[in-house]
Amino acid sequence: MNTYANLENPIEFYISEETASYVNNSKKPFTIYYDNPEHSVRLLKGDCIAILNQARENSVDMIFADPPYFLSNGGITCHAGKMVSVNKGKWDKSKGVIENHKFTLEWLKACQRILKPNGTIWVSGTTHIIYSVGFAMQELGYKILNDIIWYKRNAPPNLSCRYFTHSTEIILWAAKNEKCKHYFDYQLMKKINQGKQMRNVWEISAPPAEEKKLGKHPTQKPVELLTRILLASTREGDLVLDPFCGSSTTGVAAIMLNRKYVGIDLEDEYLHLSRNRLEQAIKEKNATLCLQGEYKK
Ligand SMILES: C[S@@+](CC[C@H](N)C(=O)[O-])C[C@H]1O[C@@H](n2cnc3c(N)ncnc32)[C@H](O)[C@@H]1O
Repeated sequence: MNTYANLENPIEFYISEETASYVNNSKKPFTIYYDNPEHSVRLLKGDCIAILNQARENSVDMIFADPPYFLSNGGITCHAGKMVSVNKGKWDKSKGVIENHKFTLEWLKACQRILKPNGTIWVSGTTHIIYSVGFAMQELGYKILNDIIWYKRNAPPNLSCRYFTHSTEIILWAAKNEKCKHYFDYQLMKKINQGKQMRNVWEISAPPAEEKKLGKHPTQKPVELLTRILLASTREGDLVLDPFCGSSTTGVAAIMLNRKYVGIDLEDEYLHLSRNRLEQAIKEKNATLCLQGEYKK
């Protein structure tokens, strides 16, 4: 592993000289876990707020953030037909409404600073956090563009039988501020929706087994969801950041669509899975290019 300060910056996401000396003083706030300049893909290990606060202002085209939902608090859920307690990891435990909201405000503020003036951010969540995210966005002056309802037809049943079965997540799409002239590929979205305007309810299944063949993340998103998000709001060559990258579903979609990618996570286990998935996506992309006779190198 390298320290961030030693590397060139093919993806224009770097820390200042000042921070470089901080890094060299061995109080390393983060490390580069994986770097592939040829494909403009990078994974950083550390707390995303600390990292983003050191990154260059106005440097990222689009952010997809899938933060902790603070769900792992002793409740029950259904997994593979069995009743299990919800325990996705220490990172998913609630610290109480006020502290959770402070955290949300802090990382959303850090994201807003590094977004380019016309950049946008997507944030996914369930009722546990999404109202806090929406409120924080309004407090910070983001412009909320859409609330996407992601409907999972294959959601697991509700075992308690005391509620309607949860089968949706909300994804808020917001521009950096009110003045932002955000990018939206309206025509492409219409085209993939059989020529009709695309609405804000997206029916996409939870990730298939194929997407978990290299290992599992407890809250993995489907590649189809991230593909649609990237196609709607970015162009080829854009830099996409995922501050809570988990297994790097965002990175897999970014590689397939020729976008640059930086993913951040705290956990070695997830960064390891991310690296394997990113390398697999690069191999698959090269194989496709090879078939089309376009593979260079
Ligand atoms: C909801 S999961 C993301 C799942 C991801 N979208 C995927 O498809 O695999 C959230 C991730 O954020 C990481 N995380 C939690 N707090 C963090 C922090 N302060 N900085 C960086 N990563 C964090 C967790 O380790 C976890 O992997």
